[in-house]
Amino acid sequence: MNILVTGGAGYIGSHTVVALLEAGQSVIIADNLSNSKRETVEKIMDITNKEVTFYEIDVTDVEAVDIIFRNHKFEGVVHFAGLKAVGESVEKPLEYYYTNIVSTIVLAKACQKYSVNRFVFSSSATVYGDNKVPFVETMGLLPTTNPYGETKAMSERILTDIAKANPALSISILRYFNPVGAHESGLIGEAPTGIPNNLMPYCTQVAKGKLKKLRVFGNDYPTVDGTGVRDYIHVMDLAEGHVAALENLTEGVHIYNLGTGKGTSVLELVKAFEEANDIEVPYEIVNRRPGDIALCYADASKAKKELGWTAKRDLIAMCRDAWRFEKNYNKQLV
Ligand code: NAD
Ligand code: UD1
Repeated sequence: MNILVTGGAGYIGSHTVVALLEAGQSVIIADNLSNSKRETVEKIMDITNKEVTFYEIDVTDVEAVDIIFRNHKFEGVVHFAGLKAVGESVEKPLEYYYTNIVSTIVLAKACQKYSVNRFVFSSSATVYGDNKVPFVETMGLLPTTNPYGETKAMSERILTDIAKANPALSISILRYFNPVGAHESGLIGEAPTGIPNNLMPYCTQVAKGKLKKLRVFGNDYPTVDGTGVRDYIHVMDLAEGHVAALENLTEGVHIYNLGTGKGTSVLELVKAFEEANDIEVPYEIVNRRPGDIALCYADASKAKKELGWTAKRDLIAMCRDAWRFEKNYNKQLV
């Protein structure tokens, strides 16, 4: 299949492009490089030894998107492009609503115009809000605490309505839990700019000595050791989940959790990181972070049953691969 991957130079997109190419699909990337680098596209080609066509465009730009659809006959679209920083979305709600909602609408309209019927969308476990764990796809969604989360819930509703109105469409909405780690080559991975917000990149930078100490946000949650519990998933498992979703798409709208089904606390992750990499991660306990919930992990059985997909890589592999990329990436910058 010829697949358009928006945001394909980004963290999850780049790993998914690798997985798609390895599964024999052809890929065209559209990315405005607002949170990624052109070199990542070269690295994807180095890893896979396959060619990728790259367009530096903004996917909210109707004319630019139309040109790509005129140039290529797509069998499917995987839409990753968007803004994803929760805190920033509270500061800049308009930018988040505009980019994340308009991009989905512009792409859906292009799909309609050019009769492209397969669409895979990046959603997030954040749409479940503070629900009872494990989160199941059939649960009623609760309001999220921030505009970013609302853009995901709204995009899901838009895509669901579009699928209802056009029975020829096959739409897969993938709710990611906490993607971490990097490709085993150490060539691509997560490279946040500035001080990281998320736990794993913060750990790697503390281990590296770039940051002094990890701040553990609260140890008084009703969890195994009082720290927040999440469902960390290796980014390559997540990437392979997209290949399975595309290959098993049928008409209608289908929602899948992509997680491992296993919860890990902050302190358990720190311990696994230290063991996997034989390096210390100094930390201190500080106050809870506003907006955080105690527990978030998936019921991952639907994806297993319908897509034949399960996450294969364990926490040690996630920590080892995240650290390998951090060392490699910083070496390249020196
Ligand atoms: P990322 O920032 O690394 O990748 C997003 C890519 O989209 C970047 O390469 C960026 O340059 C590009 N982009 C942004 N706005 C664009 C625009 N208007 N036009 C064209 N390209 C644009 O983020 P990621 O972690 O790879 O996330 C990918 C998707 O998955 C996002 O939709 C995100 O909301 C969703 N998601 C991510 C996580 C996570 O933990 N990383 C969790 C749940 C859902
Ligand atoms: C965050 C987002 C979520 C998004 C996800 C993507 C918030 C409130 N939620 O999820 O919408 O889909 O990222 O990955 O931002 N922690 C620390 N110290 C740190 C960083 C994190 O203790 O420096 C803790 C958090 O309190 C949490 C866990 O580590 O318990 C994971 O945090 P993080 O990696 O930021 O992910 P989420 O908060 O689950």
